[in-house]
Amino acid sequence: MKTLNTIEEVRAWRGAQAEVGFVPTMGALHEGHASLIRRSAADNPATLVSVFVNPTQFGPNEDLAKYPRTLDADLKLCEAAGATAVFTPDKSMMYPPGFRSWVIVDELGDRLCGSSRPGHFKGVTTVVAKLFNIAQATRAYFGQKDAQQALILRRMVSDLNLPLELVVCPTVREADGLALSSRNRYLNEDERKRAVGLHKALAEVERLFKAGTTKTAILHPALVTILDDYVDKLDYAEIVDADSLQPLDEVDRPTLVAIAAFVGSTRLIDNTIIGV
Ligand code: PAJ
Repeated sequence: MKTLNTIEEVRAWRGAQAEVGFVPTMGALHEGHASLIRRSAADNPATLVSVFVNPTQFGPNEDLAKYPRTLDADLKLCEAAGATAVFTPDKSMMYPPGFRSWVIVDELGDRLCGSSRPGHFKGVTTVVAKLFNIAQATRAYFGQKDAQQALILRRMVSDLNLPLELVVCPTVREADGLALSSRNRYLNEDERKRAVGLHKALAEVERLFKAGTTKTAILHPALVTILDDYVDKLDYAEIVDADSLQPLDEVDRPTLVAIAAFVGSTRLIDNTIIGV
C-alpha cells in the first residue's frame, strides 16, 4: 500500500490505474470504514482512501480540535481491508491562502443535521468535490450511517454531472445495535450503555411500521418516548421523505427516520429507512 502525501502524488498514482474506487474518511477508522474499503476493493482493481479531518465541516463549538487522530492504526486498517493507496493531505494543501470557492446543495443541506450544524454540509460537499477532482475515481463509497450526507452527495454528483458512480453501503453496528462511529470512543461506560437507545428507538419504529402503523403522528411519539429514556438531550428525531427530507404525515413512500442525540456531551446520529 502506498502513502500519498500530496495532490501531485495522487495524480501521478491515478494516471497509472485503470479504474479506481475511492473512500473518503476523516480517519479514526473502524469496521464501518473497513466495510467501505472492502467493498471498493471487491469492485475495483485499485482503492484509494483519503484521511483528512476537514475543518470546514466543523462548527465553531464542535469537536475539531479533539477529533481523534490515529493515523498509524488507520494505515494498518486500510491495508488489511484492501486499500491500494492512502492520501493524507494537510489543511494548507486543501485550503491554501485565498481559498474562497464553495459547493452548496440548496435546501437539503439546511434540514436535519444542517439545521443544528449550520454550514456543515457546505464544508462536506466542498471537500468531497475537491477530493473527487483530485482522485478522479470511477466509483466512490459512502455509508448509510450518514444518510443525509449520502443523499446530498448523490444530488451533487447528479446536479454537477460529476463523472463517477456513488455507492452507498449499509451501516455497520456493534452487537447491541449501536452504529459504529469515530465519536463512540468519547463515551464513558454508562454513556456507552445508553447510546444503544438510538438503535432501540429506530427498531421500535420499524416494528410498529411492520405491524401496520403508518401515521407519523403515532410513530414519532414512540420514537421520542424511547429516546427520552436513554439520551441526555435530543437534537432532532424526524420522519421524512427519504428523497426530499420533507416531513410526512403518512409513511406511503421511502421514508427516512433520522435521529441526532447527545449522550453525555457526545452527539450521535443514526437512521433507518422504512416504506421501501
Ligand atoms: P467519516 O465520519 O470518517 O466517515 C467516512 C465514511 O464512513 C462515510 O461515508 C460514513 O458514512 C462511513 N461510515 C461511518 N460510520 C459507518 C458505519 N457504522 N457503517 C458504515 N459506514 C460508516 O463522513 C465523513 O467522514 C466526512 O464527512 C467525509 C465524507 C470524509 C468528508 O469530510
